[in-house]
Amino acid sequence: MDVRLKVNGTEHELPIDDNALLLDVLRDRLRLTGAKRSCDVQVCGACTVLVGGEPVSSCCFLAHDARDGEVETIEGFAAEEGFAALAEAFARHNAFQCGYCAPGFLMTLKPLLARGALRSRADVEREFAGNLCRCTGYRAIVDAVCEAAGVAS
Ligand code: FES
Ligand code: FES
Repeated sequence: MDVRLKVNGTEHELPIDDNALLLDVLRDRLRLTGAKRSCDVQVCGACTVLVGGEPVSSCCFLAHDARDGEVETIEGFAAEEGFAALAEAFARHNAFQCGYCAPGFLMTLKPLLARGALRSRADVEREFAGNLCRCTGYRAIVDAVCEAAGVAS
């Protein structure tokens, strides 16, 4: 069945299976490979993208269910004004090593910053409990998010 998806501001009309997962459509059909597959069971956050402005685990989200809300991936976020300053904050703190988890952290962060939802280090630690990193001890990531959110760390 054809589905119309708006991804990073661009409309796509694609024939896709009813049970196609959003992560597979983004990566394999649209060649947007920023969102990563890791756990595949909605635990690690590596596949996080926004649908209608809210973070979802695209490894467990049907592509057809994204037809009513614009999809945003790290590729779209990275093209926005202000992203470079955010990336610099993460680089300053050496927040990531391999970087596999980074798109998921950043897509989780975007709506939190927009809502002003991060007011303390405890907020940051709580909101990112669903984003796993296999390389770091999280401290530098939390430090970078605190800087990005203007929260004392
Ligand atoms: S790959 Fe989707 S949550 Fe881990
Ligand atoms: S930096 Fe390697 S998984 Fe997070």
